[in-house]
Amino acid sequence: MNSWTLAYDGFDPRHEGLREALCTLGNGYFATRGAAPERGADGVHYPGTYVAGCYNRATSLVAGHEIENEDLVNAPNWLPLTFCAEGGRWLGEDGAAGSGQRLELDLRRGVLTRTFQVCDGEGRTTRVRQRRLVSMAEPHLAALETELTPQDWSGTLTVRSALDGAVANSGVERYRKLNDRHLVPQGTGGAAPEETWLRSETSASGIGIALAARTRVTRGPGAATAAVDSRPDWIGCDLEVAAVGGRPVTVEKVVALHTSRDKAISDHLTAARASLARAGDFAELLESHTLAWRHLWQECAVDVGDAEDQRILRLHLFHLLQTLSPHTADLDVGVPARGLHGEAYRGHVFWDELFVFPLLNLHLPETARALLRYRWRRLPRARAAARAQGLRGAMFPWQSGSDGREETQHLHLNPRSGHWLSDRSYLQRHVGIAIAYNVWEHYRVTGGTAFLANFGAELLLEIARTLADLAAYDHRLGRYVIRGVMGPDEYHDAYPDREEPGLDDNAYTNIMAVWVLQRALQALEELPEASRRRVSERIGLTAAETKRFGRIAARMRVPFHEDVISQFAGYEELAELDWAAYRARYGDIRRLDRILEAEGDSCNRYRASKQADVLMLFFLLSAEELRDILRRLGYEDRADDPGLIPRTVDHYLARTSHGSTLSAVVHAWVLSRTDRAASWSFLREALRSDIDDSQGGTTAEGIHLGAMAGTVDVLIRCYTGLSAHGGSLRLAPTLPPELPHLSFHLRYRGHRGVRLDISAAEARISVPPSPLPPLAVECRGRSASVAPGTSRVLPVR
Ligand code: BGC
Repeated sequence: MNSWTLAYDGFDPRHEGLREALCTLGNGYFATRGAAPERGADGVHYPGTYVAGCYNRATSLVAGHEIENEDLVNAPNWLPLTFCAEGGRWLGEDGAAGSGQRLELDLRRGVLTRTFQVCDGEGRTTRVRQRRLVSMAEPHLAALETELTPQDWSGTLTVRSALDGAVANSGVERYRKLNDRHLVPQGTGGAAPEETWLRSETSASGIGIALAARTRVTRGPGAATAAVDSRPDWIGCDLEVAAVGGRPVTVEKVVALHTSRDKAISDHLTAARASLARAGDFAELLESHTLAWRHLWQECAVDVGDAEDQRILRLHLFHLLQTLSPHTADLDVGVPARGLHGEAYRGHVFWDELFVFPLLNLHLPETARALLRYRWRRLPRARAAARAQGLRGAMFPWQSGSDGREETQHLHLNPRSGHWLSDRSYLQRHVGIAIAYNVWEHYRVTGGTAFLANFGAELLLEIARTLADLAAYDHRLGRYVIRGVMGPDEYHDAYPDREEPGLDDNAYTNIMAVWVLQRALQALEELPEASRRRVSERIGLTAAETKRFGRIAARMRVPFHEDVISQFAGYEELAELDWAAYRARYGDIRRLDRILEAEGDSCNRYRASKQADVLMLFFLLSAEELRDILRRLGYEDRADDPGLIPRTVDHYLARTSHGSTLSAVVHAWVLSRTDRAASWSFLREALRSDIDDSQGGTTAEGIHLGAMAGTVDVLIRCYTGLSAHGGSLRLAPTLPPELPHLSFHLRYRGHRGVRLDISAAEARISVPPSPLPPLAVECRGRSASVAPGTSRVLPVR
């Protein structure tokens, strides 16, 4: 197995869901899990297809309450394909399962190959080789090629190819009690086998989905007869072929998928049929698809040498690019936390974009911008949410879907206790901080005041306003405070002795709110006068308000205890957890919240975090930036205390269960300058989180996109110290000893395919030929100007 291949030998029902998720193929418009085409959802297999941004609402009755959820819809299944030999059993039926299976995902070309053989119970053996792709070149097309070779028989081979609209959102065990029906059949038709089609509509959002398929025998004796069978939500055709022992028969299924939300269509069914009519055969589709991937890899490759790490990094980039591709730039979608790979978190958009954006800024800036537009379009909704709380500005939801309302569920199930519990995670107001941070980073990296003037500043200022209004002046403390919120650590949602939910003065929220207010003021300064006036007038931002921004940014409260930054006010009152005892009793205690709740206890009573919370500050801000903020807030002693950051890191490191895959990424980053061995070990952990399914069964329900992108980001920004400063790129590499060499490409200020080769001794920067001005680079105080078509080497020490 090379570092471009993910392969699985044999079949293991316990791991099938994981394999399906990791073998998902997609192109940013839609994705399909790597499920066996002959299987439906049967408790082991789960053939899900998800179209980016295609959501639907449904109401369910849970624990006596009517609740409404919005889900990323499992679209009709385009995969179904099976066969039988001489009237025997169909592949997939009892007694005709495949054996000796090998599944191979080619990461370079985005092709999933499956080989196996099947014996039909009557002594007839057929060898099968299937290849599939979801075209990166033509985002509405996918194809499945199946080669069937009778080993020891000759006779009629019947191939059944179908489109299945009778699917549900039943991929996540915990959600099984909820209404999982989102599709209303709208009919089937076509002239099989050259064309069959199926139309469906989501029940509440009314999104029309159309599939059109062509099934052809492209090698072998040719189809003798074809028969069609159809229902309103299913259409299949049978092709009969006179097969001869030892001679392969190849069947190609080419499929087009459109929805009523697509651009440049009249209606989705006509569009699907027209796309199909124009589509080439498998070989042609493979060629353009391979080329599209080649171009993507030329711009996004990362090379670390070590074959296994290399393979996982490619897998992570591969899934990132399949979820958020250049095609995404033309869509109205956000960053789905679990990719387009499964149904966990219902395809919702959280703050995880904070971990995904840096890579997109440096590789696919148009896609990054489109994701910010997703937020910007939902400003009216976020403004209404702020107003409903008596606040100005825009309050973005913790979980976002189609229209930007709060999609966080009211109740969630603890599978360990069977209890339905109130979900207060919507109190994570820091989601707005993540959006503002991304606006600023996008501006810094791409250098466009036009972006700020057009919509970036509006987003940033509206978020800043809400944060400012969340802050109240406490006369007793002589400081601004933010009460009743949650930080990123979801294990604390209330004080143990307080009725109402939320915590006061979450340090991450307060300090980052100050940072956002500072950036809002800076944006106003850096905008050309006319743009500043226009955006301020448009949103009604007054001088009194911006003055208040300045006052809050100078007097926000930051809680401390035992010479470390407190996660929130009153943190010091919490009990210490006996970590050793819990580890001994339960082994894996990542989901400590579920363990304690099932014991009738609660994480709220303990100094025990799910994930990095205070430490997020050191992830987003440099030590200098943090000290500067503390100093301006009047915490000079703390700012000048060189031990504050290391002590704070140690304190929370010892009290975090890493119940989110994001946690290892943040810890790898935070420890990179002080404990390189520990940093490397957290990075390895983050690298293994999906491939090994280290959160115990969650990857089958969708990949962890934030952690996947985060691992690549740790390499290319953290270990290299890469940052954008005005027009120049700054480097300050400190590669861990396990990483002797690192190369990657990026895009910066119009230069595409800039290559960086970094070792412990030097950094080489190569800029491809172009008519652009030279690229300014800085490494540990030395500057260079790299002309297009040349390279420069700078020492890193
Ligand atoms: C984490 C959140 C994250 C969400 C979606 C949760 O487990 O605690 O920080 O946003 O998953 O990935």
